[in-house]
Amino acid sequence: MPTLIIGASGLVGGALRNEFPDATGTYLRHAGPGLVPLDITDAAAVDALVARVRPELILLPAAQPAVDRCELDPDESERVNVGGTGNVARAAARLGARLVYFSSDYVFDGAAGPYEVDAAPCPINVYGRHKLAAETLVRAAVADHLIARVSGVYGYQPDGKNFVMALARLGAAGERMRVPSDQWGTPTYAPSLAAAVRELAASGHRGIVHPAGPDYLTRIDFARLAAEVFGYDDAFLVPVTTPELEQPAARPLRAGVDNRSTQALLRTTRLAGAREGLCDMRRCMEAAA
Ligand SMILES: NC(=O)c1ccc[n+]([C@@H]2O[C@H](COP(=O)([O-])OP(=O)(O)OC[C@H]3O[C@@H](n4cnc5c(N)ncnc54)[C@H](OP(=O)(O)O)[C@@H]3O)[C@@H](O)[C@H]2O)c1
Repeated sequence: MPTLIIGASGLVGGALRNEFPDATGTYLRHAGPGLVPLDITDAAAVDALVARVRPELILLPAAQPAVDRCELDPDESERVNVGGTGNVARAAARLGARLVYFSSDYVFDGAAGPYEVDAAPCPINVYGRHKLAAETLVRAAVADHLIARVSGVYGYQPDGKNFVMALARLGAAGERMRVPSDQWGTPTYAPSLAAAVRELAASGHRGIVHPAGPDYLTRIDFARLAAEVFGYDDAFLVPVTTPELEQPAARPLRAGVDNRSTQALLRTTRLAGAREGLCDMRRCMEAAA
């Protein structure tokens, strides 16, 4: 099936490329072999690429996912996360393509996670509000859509900035890492997410799915588990509360998404637990070293 991955140079996009090796993939700032440039805020460019590739399936992990940056520059966040998503959704609708949009547990307020697919969203920061606005646009414009909400995505990326890659770098150097002890989530292993999305995209299922990991834990417990799996003394991890971090954007503390209804839709993919994902990530890092 002709497939277009918009945002293939990112963490999720890179994992999707492994599952959809024949897909056309795009980048914005980080070029990669075989990728084509695209800025989703440019509606004409989106239309031109979609008209050229004529995808039956569009996967859209492209976003501005830096939560504090979105808080400090809400106009940019709106342009990319809402406007850009709208451009892709309209292009998908015109072509009759199936669209998979990647969203976040940050559409919730974090009072009572992990959240099921039918829980009522109530974002508490700019990023969350814009991801929710984008979900609404996708639902309105594209009949054949999936909205895949995930939480704390991690995976091997050579120059990657995701939480576990940062932890591995700091742990190896023995440098202190401040980690919130009061933020809960369902860490999502990128390759496992991509495998689930391949299976869900091929199914007729429509609507919201939660292809996240099954484990519900705090950032500091996840970090300590990662340190153990990577063989580091966890003394470099410094637990702090969210207020101590003084981040610009409020954080939903008990966030995370409940993956059980989504796992039940999957016949062959088992969404990886935290230890399993981290062990696989370690193998990938060792193989690349
Ligand atoms: N990472 C997480 O923990 C997490 C948690 C919940 C939800 N999500 C959601 O999952 C999705 C993927 O996140 P990720 O971690 O893979 O993010 P990422 O690694 O930062 O990748 C973002 C991708 O979007 C592209 N991009 C950014 N602005 C763009 C624009 N204006 N036009 C076209 N492409 C643009 C980037 O291209 P370049 O790199 O080439 O510039 C990159 O390919 C996002 O929708 C995010 O909101 C992520």
